[in-house]
Amino acid sequence: MTTYKLLLLPGDGIGPEVMAGVETVLTALAETGLATFEAETDLVGGSAIDAHGKPLSDATLAKADAADAILLGAVGGPKWNGVAYEIRPEAGLLRLRKDLGLFANLRPAICYPALADASALKRELVEGLDIMIVRELTGGVYFGEPKEITTLPDGSKRAVDTQVYTTAEIERIAHIAFDLAGKRSGRVASAEKHNVMKSGVLWKEVVTEVHARHYAGIALEHVLADNCAMQLVRRPKQFDVLVTDNLFGDVLSDVAAMLTGSLGMLPSASLGAVDARGTRKALYEPVHGSAPDIAGQDKANPIAMIGSLAMCLRYSFGLGEAADLVDRAITAALAGGARTADIAGDGAPVLGTRAMAELIASELRVRAA
Ligand code: IPM
Ligand code: MG
Repeated sequence: MTTYKLLLLPGDGIGPEVMAGVETVLTALAETGLATFEAETDLVGGSAIDAHGKPLSDATLAKADAADAILLGAVGGPKWNGVAYEIRPEAGLLRLRKDLGLFANLRPAICYPALADASALKRELVEGLDIMIVRELTGGVYFGEPKEITTLPDGSKRAVDTQVYTTAEIERIAHIAFDLAGKRSGRVASAEKHNVMKSGVLWKEVVTEVHARHYAGIALEHVLADNCAMQLVRRPKQFDVLVTDNLFGDVLSDVAAMLTGSLGMLPSASLGAVDARGTRKALYEPVHGSAPDIAGQDKANPIAMIGSLAMCLRYSFGLGEAADLVDRAITAALAGGARTADIAGDGAPVLGTRAMAELIASELRVRAA
């Protein structure tokens, strides 16, 4: 059996607690004999600033580069509000994404049947929801130059961020979206603001061209990003694969997350290009942040993190059976009524982070036996 090399980067806030949930599930997975792992743990974000004075050391980046896959918890928190912009916790995560070329961010928003009532929307609007947001992750306004604040002659300031996309960047993310749609319902919606932004004009043009040249069997719809946000809360099930740029993807995936009941439910995969050996760099992380308000209290929902492990098994290692097992264990735990605080109804009994992860691990053992 192959042993897979994982780099675990728990990060800050609730990151270490939800990552402990991953380790619980990894132990259970190893017992099933479906897969074995060699997991190393390192620092990223604020915890790395405390140890090394920067949010991602070169040594950690080298380990990330050498790993078969990376699992990341969350970065950031009020403790590091005062640090310089260049070395803020988030810069560590952004450097990992950029330097490893992880341009394709897949954020599935699935509404588990047992959670339809935890959604902010009515049950009938979200029950059965299964959207795949494909967010471009290494371009756009996150990385465009210039990116600066300058002082004007009168002493006031001027801030610039640059939204920039090239044909090649749009083409490769469009291919990811259309290929995924081919394995799903065959529908892609592409969101941009071509009515206001040049980058939106090019985005729409390139997506249209890629579609026309290669994907006759897929239905493509263009939607303005603001309208897309509105449609997501009005009639979310109209979407299947939703492809969009880095910033719109950041915003729209938070909206989609809430449809599923809680931000604590959404996993994600960030993938690089396939190399000559047929492998690709990959980082898996929950969509939620470090939630400093509940950190260290055993309150966080570990499901987005454990779901990210399932995505890792599926996309990086081709372990579909093991991934299904993890997903089914999560579904079973929820169906049995297990709830962390973020998804519990009023007065319902609440599990802590550890208990939820242990329950998922034991559901997994039962299903693997
Ligand atoms: C996300 C997060 C990050 C982002 C932050 C932590 C830099 O919000 O992954 O959605 O903006 O991409
Ligand atoms: Mg975000």
